Amino acid sequence: MVPPPRRLRSVSDDAPQSPLRTILAGRAYLGGRLQPVEIAIDEDGRIRSVGKVRTGAPRHDVGDRVILPAATDLHVHLREPGGPAEAETIPTGTVAAAVGGVGLVGEMPNTVPPVVDAEAARAKAGRVPGRAAVDVLLYASPTVPRARAELARVAGGFKLYLSPTTGMETPPPMTEVPGLLRELAGFGLPVAVHAEDPRQFAGPERPRTPVDWNLGRPPRAELAAVEVLSRAPDALRLHVAHVTTAEAADRLRARGFSFEATPHHLLLSDRSGPDARTKVNPPLRSEAERARLWEAFRRGDVPVLASDHAPHPLAEKSLPFDRAPSGVPGVETLLPLMLARVRARELDLPTLLLAACERPARWFGQPIGRIAPGHRANLLVVDFRRRTTVEGRRLHSACGWTPFEGWEAIFPEEHYHDGARIVEAGEYVGPASGRVVRPEYAPS
Ligand code: DOR
Ligand code: ZN
Repeated sequence: MVPPPRRLRSVSDDAPQSPLRTILAGRAYLGGRLQPVEIAIDEDGRIRSVGKVRTGAPRHDVGDRVILPAATDLHVHLREPGGPAEAETIPTGTVAAAVGGVGLVGEMPNTVPPVVDAEAARAKAGRVPGRAAVDVLLYASPTVPRARAELARVAGGFKLYLSPTTGMETPPPMTEVPGLLRELAGFGLPVAVHAEDPRQFAGPERPRTPVDWNLGRPPRAELAAVEVLSRAPDALRLHVAHVTTAEAADRLRARGFSFEATPHHLLLSDRSGPDARTKVNPPLRSEAERARLWEAFRRGDVPVLASDHAPHPLAEKSLPFDRAPSGVPGVETLLPLMLARVRARELDLPTLLLAACERPARWFGQPIGRIAPGHRANLLVVDFRRRTTVEGRRLHSACGWTPFEGWEAIFPEEHYHDGARIVEAGEYVGPASGRVVRPEYAPS
Protein backbone atom coordinates (compact mmCIF):
# COMPACT_ATOMS: atom_id res chain seq x y z
CA MET A 1 0.00 0.00 0.00
CA VAL A 2 1.42 3.33 -1.03
CA PRO A 3 0.58 6.36 1.10
CA PRO A 4 -1.31 9.13 -0.73
CA PRO A 5 0.84 11.96 -2.12
CA ARG A 6 1.29 14.76 0.34
CA ARG A 7 2.10 18.37 -0.40
CA LEU A 8 5.58 19.10 0.90
CA ARG A 9 5.59 22.05 3.23
CA SER A 10 8.38 24.55 3.59
CA VAL A 11 9.67 25.94 6.86
CA SER A 12 8.52 29.41 5.95
CA ASP A 13 4.91 28.14 6.21
CA ASP A 14 5.43 27.62 9.92
CA ALA A 15 5.13 30.07 12.78
CA PRO A 16 8.43 30.34 14.73
CA GLN A 17 8.78 27.51 17.27
CA SER A 18 11.80 26.08 19.10
CA PRO A 19 14.99 26.76 17.12
CA LEU A 20 16.08 24.38 14.40
CA ARG A 21 19.00 22.13 15.16
CA THR A 22 19.84 20.49 11.81
CA ILE A 23 18.66 20.28 8.27
CA LEU A 24 19.14 16.78 6.94
CA ALA A 25 19.19 16.68 3.15
CA GLY A 26 19.09 13.55 1.01
CA ARG A 27 16.52 11.32 -0.67
CA ALA A 28 13.50 9.82 1.07
CA TYR A 29 10.52 7.68 0.15
CA LEU A 30 7.63 10.12 0.28
CA GLY A 31 4.40 10.46 -1.61
CA GLY A 32 4.92 7.08 -3.26
CA ARG A 33 8.41 7.66 -4.62
CA LEU A 34 12.02 8.29 -3.72
CA GLN A 35 12.62 12.01 -4.02
CA PRO A 36 15.09 14.65 -2.81
CA VAL A 37 14.10 16.10 0.58
CA GLU A 38 15.29 18.45 3.24
CA ILE A 39 14.20 17.53 6.74
CA ALA A 40 14.26 20.30 9.32
CA ILE A 41 14.84 18.98 12.85
CA ASP A 42 14.25 21.20 15.88
CA GLU A 43 16.07 21.42 19.19
CA ASP A 44 13.49 19.09 20.75
CA GLY A 45 14.49 16.36 18.31
CA ARG A 46 11.24 16.59 16.33
CA ILE A 47 10.78 16.86 12.61
CA ARG A 48 9.59 20.41 11.95
CA SER A 49 9.09 20.16 8.24
CA VAL A 50 9.80 18.01 5.23
CA GLY A 51 10.42 19.81 1.99
CA LYS A 52 12.50 22.72 0.82
CA VAL A 53 14.25 24.46 3.69
CA ARG A 54 15.77 27.83 3.03
CA THR A 55 17.16 28.91 6.39
CA GLY A 56 17.89 28.28 9.91
CA ALA A 57 20.41 25.59 10.88
CA PRO A 58 23.57 23.72 9.89
CA ARG A 59 22.87 21.54 6.90
CA HIS A 60 23.96 17.91 6.66
CA ASP A 61 23.72 16.71 3.08
CA VAL A 62 23.88 12.94 2.60
CA GLY A 63 23.75 13.27 -1.18
CA ASP A 64 21.90 10.50 -2.98
CA ARG A 65 21.87 8.24 0.05
CA VAL A 66 18.42 7.39 1.39
CA ILE A 67 16.92 8.71 4.64
CA LEU A 68 14.56 6.23 6.27
CA PRO A 69 12.62 6.27 9.53
CA ALA A 70 14.33 4.18 12.23
CA ALA A 71 12.66 0.81 12.79
CA THR A 72 10.71 -0.34 15.85
CA ASP A 73 11.28 -3.93 16.98
CA LEU A 74 8.27 -5.05 19.01
CA HIS A 75 9.99 -8.16 20.31
CA VAL A 76 13.39 -8.50 22.00
CA HIS A 77 14.83 -10.29 25.03
CA LEU A 78 17.66 -8.28 26.58
CA ARG A 79 18.26 -10.76 29.43
CA GLU A 80 18.46 -8.11 32.12
CA PRO A 81 18.10 -8.42 35.02
CA GLY A 82 19.25 -11.92 35.73
CA GLY A 83 21.40 -12.62 32.72
CA PRO A 84 23.13 -14.49 31.44
CA ALA A 85 25.22 -11.39 30.67
CA GLU A 86 27.24 -13.42 28.12
CA ALA A 87 24.01 -13.54 26.12
CA GLU A 88 22.95 -9.88 26.44
CA THR A 89 22.49 -6.84 28.66
CA ILE A 90 20.49 -3.66 28.15
CA PRO A 91 23.63 -1.76 26.99
CA THR A 92 24.83 -4.44 24.55
CA GLY A 93 21.38 -5.27 23.16
CA THR A 94 20.39 -1.65 22.61
CA VAL A 95 23.73 -0.84 20.92
CA ALA A 96 23.04 -3.80 18.62
CA ALA A 97 19.59 -2.30 17.95
CA ALA A 98 21.08 1.14 17.23
CA VAL A 99 23.64 -0.22 14.78
CA GLY A 100 20.93 -2.23 13.05
CA GLY A 101 18.69 0.83 12.65
CA VAL A 102 16.18 0.07 15.41
CA GLY A 103 15.29 3.09 17.59
CA LEU A 104 12.73 1.44 19.91
CA VAL A 105 12.55 -2.10 21.26
CA GLY A 106 9.76 -3.92 23.08
CA GLU A 107 11.52 -5.78 25.89
CA MET A 108 9.96 -9.06 27.02
CA PRO A 109 9.22 -9.93 30.66
CA ASN A 110 10.86 -13.38 30.88
CA THR A 111 13.91 -12.06 32.70
CA VAL A 112 15.05 -13.14 36.17
CA PRO A 113 13.02 -12.34 38.20
CA PRO A 114 10.18 -12.21 35.66
CA VAL A 115 8.28 -8.93 35.36
CA VAL A 116 5.04 -10.05 37.02
CA ASP A 117 4.49 -7.13 39.39
CA ALA A 118 4.99 -3.37 39.53
CA GLU A 119 8.09 -3.69 41.70
CA ALA A 120 9.87 -5.81 39.08
CA ALA A 121 8.70 -3.45 36.31
CA ARG A 122 10.05 -0.40 38.17
CA ALA A 123 13.35 -2.17 38.88
CA LYS A 124 13.78 -2.99 35.20
CA ALA A 125 12.81 0.54 34.15
CA GLY A 126 15.51 1.88 36.49
CA ARG A 127 18.15 0.07 34.44
CA VAL A 128 17.39 1.98 31.25
CA PRO A 129 18.36 5.67 31.80
CA GLY A 130 22.00 6.35 30.97
CA ARG A 131 22.55 2.76 29.81
CA ALA A 132 20.26 2.19 26.82
CA ALA A 133 21.29 3.33 23.36
CA VAL A 134 17.69 3.35 22.09
CA ASP A 135 14.23 3.59 23.63
CA VAL A 136 12.68 0.66 25.44
CA LEU A 137 9.03 -0.26 26.01
CA LEU A 138 8.71 -2.77 28.84
CA TYR A 139 6.29 -5.66 28.64
CA ALA A 140 4.91 -7.29 31.77
CA SER A 141 3.54 -10.78 32.28
CA PRO A 142 -0.06 -10.93 33.58
CA THR A 143 0.43 -14.22 35.44
CA VAL A 144 -0.20 -12.83 38.96
CA PRO A 145 -3.88 -11.80 39.09
CA ARG A 146 -3.67 -9.38 42.04
CA ALA A 147 -0.64 -7.58 40.53
CA ARG A 148 -2.26 -6.83 37.15
CA ALA A 149 -3.97 -3.50 37.77
CA GLU A 150 -0.91 -1.79 39.27
CA LEU A 151 1.33 -3.38 36.66
CA ALA A 152 -0.86 -1.90 33.93
CA ARG A 153 -0.06 1.59 35.26
CA VAL A 154 3.70 1.02 35.07
CA ALA A 155 4.36 -1.31 32.12
CA GLY A 156 4.12 -0.49 28.42
CA GLY A 157 2.28 -3.65 27.42
CA PHE A 158 1.47 -7.23 28.40
CA LYS A 159 3.00 -10.40 27.01
CA LEU A 160 1.08 -13.60 27.39
CA TYR A 161 2.76 -16.97 26.81
CA LEU A 162 0.31 -19.74 25.97
CA SER A 163 3.03 -22.43 26.02
CA PRO A 164 6.09 -23.03 28.21
CA THR A 165 9.23 -21.27 27.02
CA THR A 166 12.49 -19.82 28.41
CA GLY A 167 11.83 -18.42 31.89
CA MET A 168 8.04 -18.90 31.59
CA GLU A 169 7.45 -22.53 32.45
CA THR A 170 3.80 -22.46 33.54
CA PRO A 171 1.38 -20.85 31.09
CA PRO A 172 -2.26 -20.40 32.12
CA PRO A 173 -4.54 -23.32 31.15
CA MET A 174 -5.94 -22.68 27.65
CA THR A 175 -9.46 -22.80 29.08
CA GLU A 176 -8.71 -19.68 31.17
CA VAL A 177 -7.26 -17.67 28.28
CA PRO A 178 -10.51 -16.10 26.94
CA GLY A 179 -11.37 -14.73 30.42
CA LEU A 180 -7.87 -13.40 30.90
CA LEU A 181 -7.99 -11.65 27.53
CA ARG A 182 -11.29 -10.02 28.48
CA GLU A 183 -9.72 -8.69 31.67
CA LEU A 184 -6.62 -7.42 29.84
CA ALA A 185 -8.79 -5.57 27.30
CA GLY A 186 -9.87 -3.29 30.16
CA PHE A 187 -6.36 -1.92 30.70
CA GLY A 188 -6.00 -0.39 27.22
CA LEU A 189 -2.37 -1.53 26.84
CA PRO A 190 -1.09 -3.53 23.87
CA VAL A 191 -1.11 -7.28 24.51
CA ALA A 192 1.31 -9.55 22.63
CA VAL A 193 0.69 -13.29 22.65
CA HIS A 194 3.01 -16.23 22.09
CA ALA A 195 0.53 -18.38 20.20
CA GLU A 196 1.28 -22.07 20.51
CA ASP A 197 -1.33 -24.39 22.05
CA PRO A 198 0.66 -26.90 24.12
CA ARG A 199 -2.20 -29.43 23.90
CA GLN A 200 -1.05 -29.97 20.30
CA PHE A 201 2.59 -30.71 21.16
CA ALA A 202 3.75 -34.24 20.27
CA GLY A 203 6.59 -35.82 18.37
CA PRO A 204 9.94 -37.36 19.16
CA GLU A 205 10.69 -37.86 22.85
CA ARG A 206 14.29 -36.79 22.33
CA PRO A 207 14.37 -34.22 19.52
CA ARG A 208 17.77 -34.18 17.81
CA THR A 209 17.34 -31.71 14.96
CA PRO A 210 15.27 -28.67 13.95
CA VAL A 211 13.16 -31.07 11.85
CA ASP A 212 12.26 -33.02 15.02
CA TRP A 213 11.58 -29.75 16.84
CA ASN A 214 9.10 -28.73 14.12
CA LEU A 215 7.37 -32.10 14.42
CA GLY A 216 7.12 -31.71 18.19
CA ARG A 217 5.65 -28.18 18.19
CA PRO A 218 3.84 -28.40 14.84
CA PRO A 219 2.03 -25.71 12.80
CA ARG A 220 -1.31 -27.04 14.07
CA ALA A 221 -0.33 -25.86 17.58
CA GLU A 222 -0.16 -22.33 16.18
CA LEU A 223 -3.48 -22.70 14.38
CA ALA A 224 -5.15 -24.05 17.51
CA ALA A 225 -3.88 -21.09 19.53
CA VAL A 226 -5.08 -18.64 16.86
CA GLU A 227 -8.50 -20.29 17.06
CA VAL A 228 -8.66 -19.57 20.80
CA LEU A 229 -7.40 -16.01 20.30
CA SER A 230 -9.97 -15.29 17.63
CA ARG A 231 -12.56 -15.24 20.45
CA ALA A 232 -10.76 -12.29 22.09
CA PRO A 233 -12.86 -9.14 22.49
CA ASP A 234 -12.56 -6.56 19.70
CA ALA A 235 -11.55 -3.93 22.27
CA LEU A 236 -8.30 -5.80 23.01
CA ARG A 237 -5.19 -4.40 21.31
CA LEU A 238 -4.02 -7.90 20.42
CA HIS A 239 -0.80 -8.66 18.59
CA VAL A 240 0.33 -12.20 17.84
CA ALA A 241 4.09 -12.74 18.06
CA HIS A 242 6.20 -14.71 15.55
CA VAL A 243 3.55 -16.17 13.23
CA THR A 244 5.12 -19.02 11.26
CA THR A 245 2.44 -20.10 8.78
CA ALA A 246 0.62 -18.31 5.97
CA GLU A 247 -2.59 -19.98 7.14
CA ALA A 248 -2.39 -18.41 10.60
CA ALA A 249 -1.51 -15.09 8.94
CA ASP A 250 -4.65 -15.31 6.76
CA ARG A 251 -6.88 -16.03 9.74
CA LEU A 252 -5.42 -13.21 11.85
CA ARG A 253 -5.77 -10.76 8.99
CA ALA A 254 -9.38 -11.78 8.47
CA ARG A 255 -9.99 -11.26 12.20
CA GLY A 256 -8.29 -7.84 12.08
CA PHE A 257 -5.56 -8.56 14.65
CA SER A 258 -2.00 -7.32 14.46
CA PHE A 259 0.78 -9.88 14.12
CA GLU A 260 4.44 -10.17 13.30
CA ALA A 261 6.76 -12.47 11.38
CA THR A 262 10.47 -12.76 12.19
CA PRO A 263 13.38 -12.79 9.73
CA HIS A 264 14.27 -16.30 10.90
CA HIS A 265 10.83 -17.69 10.08
CA LEU A 266 10.82 -15.75 6.79
CA LEU A 267 14.32 -16.67 5.62
CA LEU A 268 15.35 -19.93 7.36
CA SER A 269 13.77 -23.38 7.45
CA ASP A 270 14.11 -26.53 9.56
CA ARG A 271 16.80 -27.62 7.06
CA SER A 272 18.94 -24.48 7.42
CA GLY A 273 21.26 -26.10 9.95
CA PRO A 274 21.37 -29.41 11.80
CA ASP A 275 22.28 -28.20 15.27
CA ALA A 276 20.57 -26.34 18.11
CA ARG A 277 21.64 -22.88 16.96
CA THR A 278 18.41 -22.72 14.95
CA LYS A 279 16.32 -24.25 17.75
CA VAL A 280 13.63 -21.67 18.44
CA ASN A 281 10.04 -21.40 19.71
CA PRO A 282 7.94 -21.58 17.67
CA PRO A 283 10.15 -23.82 15.50
CA LEU A 284 11.50 -23.08 12.06
CA ARG A 285 9.14 -24.69 9.57
CA SER A 286 9.55 -26.69 6.35
CA GLU A 287 10.96 -24.94 3.28
CA ALA A 288 7.49 -25.00 1.62
CA GLU A 289 5.89 -23.37 4.68
CA ARG A 290 8.66 -20.77 4.88
CA ALA A 291 8.21 -19.89 1.20
CA ARG A 292 4.45 -19.36 1.72
CA LEU A 293 5.08 -17.06 4.68
CA TRP A 294 7.64 -15.07 2.67
CA GLU A 295 5.14 -14.65 -0.17
CA ALA A 296 2.56 -13.32 2.31
CA PHE A 297 5.15 -10.89 3.69
CA ARG A 298 6.17 -9.71 0.22
CA ARG A 299 2.54 -9.06 -0.69
CA GLY A 300 2.19 -6.85 2.38
CA ASP A 301 -0.09 -9.34 4.10
CA VAL A 302 2.06 -9.55 7.24
CA PRO A 303 1.60 -6.26 9.09
CA VAL A 304 4.76 -6.25 11.23
CA LEU A 305 8.36 -7.43 11.02
CA ALA A 306 9.94 -8.13 14.43
CA SER A 307 13.05 -10.02 15.44
CA ASP A 308 12.20 -12.02 18.59
CA HIS A 309 15.85 -11.31 19.43
CA ALA A 310 16.47 -14.14 21.94
CA PRO A 311 20.23 -14.52 22.42
CA HIS A 312 21.76 -17.41 24.34
CA PRO A 313 25.49 -18.07 24.93
CA LEU A 314 26.98 -20.16 22.14
CA ALA A 315 28.20 -22.66 24.76
CA GLU A 316 24.57 -23.36 25.69
CA LYS A 317 23.45 -23.52 22.06
CA SER A 318 26.23 -26.07 21.48
CA LEU A 319 24.73 -28.55 23.98
CA PRO A 320 23.01 -31.67 22.65
CA PHE A 321 19.85 -30.54 20.83
CA ASP A 322 17.30 -31.58 23.44
CA ARG A 323 19.17 -29.76 26.25
CA ALA A 324 20.00 -26.54 24.37
CA PRO A 325 17.82 -23.46 24.99
CA SER A 326 15.50 -22.08 22.28
CA GLY A 327 16.05 -18.70 20.68
CA VAL A 328 18.18 -16.84 18.14
CA PRO A 329 19.57 -13.28 18.18
CA GLY A 330 18.26 -10.90 15.51
CA VAL A 331 17.68 -7.26 16.48
CA GLU A 332 20.82 -6.01 14.70
CA THR A 333 20.13 -7.88 11.45
CA LEU A 334 16.34 -7.32 11.32
CA LEU A 335 16.39 -4.33 8.99
CA PRO A 336 19.78 -4.88 7.23
CA LEU A 337 18.75 -8.34 5.95
CA MET A 338 15.53 -6.91 4.54
CA LEU A 339 17.22 -3.86 3.00
CA ALA A 340 19.38 -6.33 1.08
CA ARG A 341 16.20 -8.10 -0.12
CA VAL A 342 14.91 -4.69 -1.27
CA ARG A 343 18.10 -4.06 -3.19
CA ALA A 344 17.79 -7.56 -4.76
CA ARG A 345 14.25 -6.53 -5.84
CA GLU A 346 12.66 -9.35 -3.85
CA LEU A 347 10.81 -6.91 -1.59
CA ASP A 348 9.36 -3.42 -2.10
CA LEU A 349 10.74 -0.64 0.06
CA PRO A 350 7.25 0.71 0.98
CA THR A 351 6.15 -2.75 2.14
CA LEU A 352 9.24 -2.99 4.33
CA LEU A 353 8.83 0.50 5.76
CA LEU A 354 5.25 -0.19 6.77
CA ALA A 355 6.16 -3.49 8.45
CA ALA A 356 9.41 -2.44 10.13
CA CYS A 357 8.79 1.23 10.96
CA GLU A 358 5.29 2.62 10.62
CA ARG A 359 2.94 -0.09 11.87
CA PRO A 360 4.96 -1.21 14.93
CA ALA A 361 5.36 2.43 16.00
CA ARG A 362 1.61 2.95 15.70
CA TRP A 363 1.03 -0.27 17.63
CA PHE A 364 3.12 1.07 20.49
CA GLY A 365 1.42 4.48 20.25
CA GLN A 366 4.63 6.36 19.42
CA PRO A 367 5.13 9.45 17.19
CA ILE A 368 7.90 7.76 15.16
CA GLY A 369 8.18 5.47 12.14
CA ARG A 370 7.36 8.11 9.51
CA ILE A 371 9.18 11.07 8.07
CA ALA A 372 6.51 13.63 8.82
CA PRO A 373 6.24 16.94 10.71
CA GLY A 374 5.64 16.44 14.43
CA HIS A 375 7.27 13.01 14.49
CA ARG A 376 10.45 12.44 16.45
CA ALA A 377 13.58 12.63 14.28
CA ASN A 378 14.52 8.98 14.65
CA LEU A 379 16.06 8.53 11.24
CA LEU A 380 18.57 6.42 9.33
CA VAL A 381 20.86 7.10 6.41
CA VAL A 382 21.28 4.13 4.09
CA ASP A 383 23.51 3.65 1.07
CA PHE A 384 21.94 0.86 -0.97
CA ARG A 385 25.24 0.37 -2.82
CA ARG A 386 27.05 -0.61 0.37
CA ARG A 387 26.31 -4.30 0.67
CA THR A 388 28.06 -6.29 3.36
CA THR A 389 28.00 -9.78 4.76
CA VAL A 390 26.68 -10.61 8.23
CA GLU A 391 29.46 -11.81 10.53
CA GLY A 392 28.63 -12.85 14.08
CA ARG A 393 31.94 -11.69 15.46
CA ARG A 394 31.37 -8.16 14.16
CA LEU A 395 27.87 -7.79 15.57
CA HIS A 396 27.28 -5.98 18.87
CA SER A 397 25.10 -8.47 20.72
CA ALA A 398 27.03 -9.94 23.65
CA CYS A 399 26.24 -13.47 22.44
CA GLY A 400 28.66 -13.12 19.51
CA TRP A 401 26.89 -15.33 16.97
CA THR A 402 24.06 -15.13 14.47
CA PRO A 403 21.94 -17.66 12.56
CA PHE A 404 22.47 -15.43 9.49
CA GLU A 405 26.24 -15.84 9.20
CA GLY A 406 27.28 -15.03 5.61
CA TRP A 407 23.92 -13.49 4.58
CA GLU A 408 23.95 -10.34 2.52
CA ALA A 409 22.94 -7.21 4.45
CA ILE A 410 22.85 -3.43 4.16
CA PHE A 411 23.49 -1.71 7.49
CA PRO A 412 22.58 1.94 8.01
CA GLU A 413 25.55 4.28 7.92
CA GLU A 414 23.96 6.82 10.24
CA HIS A 415 21.26 6.63 12.89
CA TYR A 416 19.67 9.72 14.47
CA HIS A 417 17.82 9.44 17.78
CA ASP A 418 15.75 12.55 18.58
CA GLY A 419 17.84 14.36 16.00
CA ALA A 420 21.21 13.41 17.57
CA ARG A 421 23.52 11.15 15.59
CA ILE A 422 24.16 7.98 17.61
CA VAL A 423 25.64 5.92 14.75
CA GLU A 424 28.29 7.31 12.41
CA ALA A 425 29.95 5.35 9.59
CA GLY A 426 28.09 2.29 10.84
CA GLU A 427 29.48 2.50 14.39
CA TYR A 428 27.70 3.47 17.60
CA VAL A 429 29.04 6.73 19.02
CA GLY A 430 26.55 7.35 21.85
CA PRO A 431 25.41 8.95 24.04
CA ALA A 432 23.13 6.39 25.71
CA SER A 433 20.02 8.55 25.46
CA GLY A 434 17.41 5.79 25.33
CA ARG A 435 14.48 6.04 27.71
CA VAL A 436 11.48 4.02 28.80
CA VAL A 437 8.39 4.81 26.75
CA ARG A 438 4.76 3.89 27.25
CA PRO A 439 1.96 3.99 24.65
CA GLU A 440 0.54 7.43 23.89
CA TYR A 441 -2.66 6.46 22.15
CA ALA A 442 -4.96 9.20 20.99
CA PRO A 443 -8.27 8.94 22.87
CA SER A 444 -10.67 6.81 20.83
O1 DOR B 1 12.80 -19.37 21.14
C1 DOR B 1 12.39 -18.63 22.02
N1 DOR B 1 13.23 -18.06 22.88
N2 DOR B 1 11.08 -18.40 22.12
C2 DOR B 1 10.56 -17.74 23.16
O2 DOR B 1 9.36 -17.62 23.23
C3 DOR B 1 11.42 -17.23 24.24
C4 DOR B 1 12.78 -17.03 23.75
C5 DOR B 1 13.79 -16.82 24.84
O3 DOR B 1 13.54 -16.00 25.73
O4 DOR B 1 14.86 -17.44 24.78
ZN1 ZN C 1 10.25 -13.93 22.31
